[in-house]
Amino acid sequence: MIQENIETALNKQVQKEEFSSRLYLAMAIWCEVNGYPGAAAFLYDHTNEERMHQMKMIHYINERGGKAALYELEAPEAEFGSLENVFTQVLAHEEFITRSINELYGLTVAENDYTTGNFLQWYITEQVEEESAMRTILDKIKLVGKDKAGMFHVDKDLETMAQRNTSGNV
Ligand code: FEO
Repeated sequence: MIQENIETALNKQVQKEEFSSRLYLAMAIWCEVNGYPGAAAFLYDHTNEERMHQMKMIHYINERGGKAALYELEAPEAEFGSLENVFTQVLAHEEFITRSINELYGLTVAENDYTTGNFLQWYITEQVEEESAMRTILDKIKLVGKDKAGMFHVDKDLETMAQRNTSGNV
């Protein structure tokens, strides 16, 4: 049976994963209507990944005798200004999620809940991969700057990454 304070902390993380999904959805929409179809495809795909992170945690809470809860969500921003700004915000958000997962892990250690700590290992590894992928994308965007041909290629690369994810060959 999961402890109440751990259950609450996990449910707050469920909320953050759900918000991540909505935030990337808002970004995908912005990209789609601003001429970045590849970035849109990548972010639509990432929206689904965040949903999967949320669902994985919901099932864990329920399987341990707790009850997953859905908290209120803020509306994400709708205007992002530039692709560089989109991915600057994606990276900052992923860093925030990493800190949140680490705090959650710290709580499980303090409470001797090794089962939940073990469950969170998956998220810790996932965050390393996500931060690294987003940093690489942001670096590429910064490198091409205002060069339109370069930006076209970056967008194409993002489309390829989205297709790879969708077909499961990450
Ligand atoms: Fe669920 Fe992108 O972290």
